[in-house]
Amino acid sequence: MSKVYEVAHPLIQHHLVTLRDERTEPSEFRRLIQRLAVLLAYEATSDLLTRSIDVKTPLTTVTCQGLKQRVGLIPILRAGLGMVDPILNLIPSAEVWHLGLYRDEETAQPIEYYSKLPKSDPVEVAMIVDPMLATGGSATAALETLQRWGVPQIKLLAVIAAPEGIEAIVSQFPDTQIYVCAIDRELNDQKFIVPGLGDAGDRTFNTL
Ligand code: PRP
Repeated sequence: MSKVYEVAHPLIQHHLVTLRDERTEPSEFRRLIQRLAVLLAYEATSDLLTRSIDVKTPLTTVTCQGLKQRVGLIPILRAGLGMVDPILNLIPSAEVWHLGLYRDEETAQPIEYYSKLPKSDPVEVAMIVDPMLATGGSATAALETLQRWGVPQIKLLAVIAAPEGIEAIVSQFPDTQIYVCAIDRELNDQKFIVPGLGDAGDRTFNTL
């Protein structure tokens, strides 16, 4: 069974129009990434386990369902940072573990520059967040790190993906659930996603 979910909700498609537009300013780009992160996270959290919790309302006592698992948010710096706050707003108890990875401009290989994951006691569900899944090199490095930590269930949330990146993750990490807003046509010679949206990190942080 495929674990790749292209979430083609009308609101997602609508917000992608402006996100892709080269004229969109960083302030609006950040807001759009936030909205899309919420919509992706809504879908990606639909299989989280719950536990019964008794609560006393002003009228009576009722058994409700609260989240049961320890959830970790793993943003890949820099661009993944833009997806953290909106998802943390949905899951305030989530732990945030940052991974610093950038793609070497010549080789397109990921270079790790920050990782502070503990040696033990992994979260039960990890959600890697990064707007772009291009070659899949950065996501592969993040997945290897989370596997070494011992995380049993890993989800990857990306706004735009290239088929090449999806294939790289599916072939190496078949159990990973991948949630994307759109799977684009291809990578170009510089390993940029086409049509894509340019460089999400630069557009988020106004460093073009
Ligand atoms: C971009 C993007 C991903 C990675 C995707 O980051 O945000 O992390 O490249 O490419 P890949 O799938 O081929 O690894 P970038 O290296 O531009 O760093 P930044 O977020 O700091 O701008």
